Order: sequence, then C-alpha cells, then structure tokens
Amino acid sequence: MHNTILITGGAGFIGSHVVRLFVNNYPHYQIINLDALTYAGNLENLKDIKDKPNYKFVKGDITDESFIDELFATHQFDGVIHLAAESHVDRSIMDPLAFIRTNVMGTAVLLNAARKYWKDNYEGKLFYHVSTDEVYGSLGAEGFFTEETAYDPRSPYSASKASSDHFVNAYYHTYHLPVVISNCSNNYGSNHFPEKLIPLAIHNIKNNKPVPVYGKGENVRDWLFVEDHARAIDTIFHKGRVGETYNIGGFNEWKNIDLINLLCMIMDKKLQRAPGTSAKLITFVKDRAGHDLRYAIDATKLNKELGWAPSLQFEEGLEKTVDWYLANEEWLEHVTSGAYQDYYSEQYQKR
Ligand SMILES: NC(=O)c1ccc[n+]([C@@H]2O[C@H](COP(=O)([O-])OP(=O)(O)OC[C@H]3O[C@@H](n4cnc5c(N)ncnc54)[C@H](O)[C@@H]3O)[C@@H](O)[C@H]2O)c1
Repeated sequence: MHNTILITGGAGFIGSHVVRLFVNNYPHYQIINLDALTYAGNLENLKDIKDKPNYKFVKGDITDESFIDELFATHQFDGVIHLAAESHVDRSIMDPLAFIRTNVMGTAVLLNAARKYWKDNYEGKLFYHVSTDEVYGSLGAEGFFTEETAYDPRSPYSASKASSDHFVNAYYHTYHLPVVISNCSNNYGSNHFPEKLIPLAIHNIKNNKPVPVYGKGENVRDWLFVEDHARAIDTIFHKGRVGETYNIGGFNEWKNIDLINLLCMIMDKKLQRAPGTSAKLITFVKDRAGHDLRYAIDATKLNKELGWAPSLQFEEGLEKTVDWYLANEEWLEHVTSGAYQDYYSEQYQKR
C-alpha cells in the first residue's frame, strides 16, 4: 500500500520535516518531493537526505496542469501528501490572488490529476490534504475548534485554505476520491522561514534588532512542535479513516506577548546576557488587519482514535528551536537576504 508517494511543498518548513520522516522511516517507499522553490522553499532543509535512494526532488508548480498530469503519468503515485501552499497571512493581505492561485487552483489541479489517474482503481490510494486551524475563524476567550466547527475564514490565506478543503471534500463526495484532511494549529521548530513570529524573534534578538509584536500582543495561538506535526501526518496517512477530518494541536495556548517574553528569557540565558536584556527589544507595531484573536484546537479525536499525542513540552521544544537557530546561522543568512529585506521593511512599520 502507498508505495510511491508524492509530497508537495517538501522544501518548505513543515514539508521538509514530513519528507525526512517518510524517507527515513519507510525505506521501501519512493518519495517524490515536488516544490516550486518559492521564497519559502529551500533545498538546504533536506541536505541530510538528498542522496537517499528512495528520495527524488522535482521542481515544478502545482498550478501547471499539463506538468502535473505528466508527473502522475510518469510516477503512478499511490498516495499524495499535499502541503504546497502560500502560507503567510501577512503576504495574503498584500497579494490575495497569489494565494487563490496556489492554494485553491493548485489543490484543484492535484485533485483532478489524482482523479484522472486513479479512476479505475482507488484501492490503496489516498489524497491527504494538509490544512490549518485558521479555516475555523477566531475564538473568544472560551472554547475550542473541533472537527464539527463551522468554517469561518477571515483572511485571504484562511479563505484560500478553507476553499481548498471544500474542494477536497467535494472530490470525496462527488467522485469518491479517497481523501483525508488535517487542520493543524501553529507550528514551530527548525527550518521555519523567519517571517513567522518565533524565528523572526530569535533572529532579531540575536542581532539586537527590535522584536515587532502586533497590537498589544494579546492574540492567542496554540503551538505545536513541527516534528510532532510530521508524526501526526504519518499517523493519519497510515491509520486515518478515508473521508474524515482530524484536528491536530499542541494543547498549548500562549498569548503572543507571553511567548515572546519566554523566548527573551531563553535567549538571555543562551547568549549569556543579563536577565531582561532581550525583553527591552520588544516593540509594539500596528496590528495586522482583521487579526484573529484566539485559535485553540481540540485534538481529542486524533488522540482517541489514532493514539497520537504531542511528545514535547513547549519550553523544551522552544529551547531546542533556539539551539537550532543559533547553530545554523548560515541557513538564516541565506534565507534572509535579498527580497526578504524589502518585504520586511514594508510589513513592520512602527506605530
Ligand atoms: N506553518 C504552520 O504553522 C501551519 C499550520 C497548519 C497548517 N499549515 C499548512 O501546512 C502546509 C505547509 O506550511 P509551511 O508552514 O511549511 O509553509 P511554507 O511556506 O514554509 O512552505 C510551503 C512550500 O510550498 C512551496 N510552494 C509554494 N507554492 C507552490 C506551488 N505553486 N507549487 C509548488 N510548490 C509551491 C514553497 O516553495 C514551499 O517550499 C501549508 O499547506 C499550510 O497551509 C501550516
């Protein structure tokens, strides 16, 4: 079952952890990593496994229909794990159409190819769509998102992911394509592009630059270590029920400002700075438009049905993450040069 697997977006943050896990844990599978290598994709993330005999990288765009058709015809995939996406909310506010193209059109192109090539035989086939908890909208102080929560996306990013989820479900109901979806909370860990909160803060603290925090830092997110997300994807891919949705979360809610303060404490310790030094870099900036207040995931179904649970406490995971960034300066320098600088100055104007 599932011998030749297409993983899309495998050069990105989460995708690279998923590719590594599958290549290392399943030597009898063939893993094809398809990635367009946008600003967020980086093959350095996978240099430790690039020469493994069960791994192959293909550069290409998921919105390119004839290319995707040809790829399916060549490789006869048994499974697809689809992570390729435009993934940053702030960028979706600047350029929504890019998100609609990749996240909606790209997903539809892949679904169509799977339907076309699997049509006669769905036995042992699976299309796994990786999505986000942001499709559920924003919570108040109480409550959790469950798999039954109605979709209420509020940013162009979450609207494009919600739309792609709907297409995946539509292919299941209309064409009986074997699909599964997971909706995960915020991830953190190594190889995270430094436009996102945690790597950005680590990078700036290290370089004594202001650490931008939106509004008053009151927004709450549920954080999950990226390797735990990759393990959840492995579990759902192999044991999940076709047609189902599984929520993935860390049972780990933090206000942005509390998280940044904890990170500052860890950085003071790691960089041997006097306690309180890094916290002085915190700078409140103009809030994100339509900033969702709180996300919190109820991952009970995944835990009860498939036995998955997060493996790390947040403090431990955060220290591991800081250690990785401090030991991989070269990686950070490569990804933060060039075009990223222009984006950065436009995004974080002072209040
Ligand atoms: N980061 C999170 O906290 C989080 C949480 C839940 C779900 N997700 C979902 O997980 C998936 C991966 O997220 P991430 O944070 O690793 O994103 P990322 O931005 O780090 O990586 C996305 C990857 O997709 C590739 N890509 C983009 N457009 C493409 C296209 N048109 N064709 C082929 N490849 C393309 C990029 O080159 C990059 O390697 C996304 O679908 C995202 O919605 C992310």
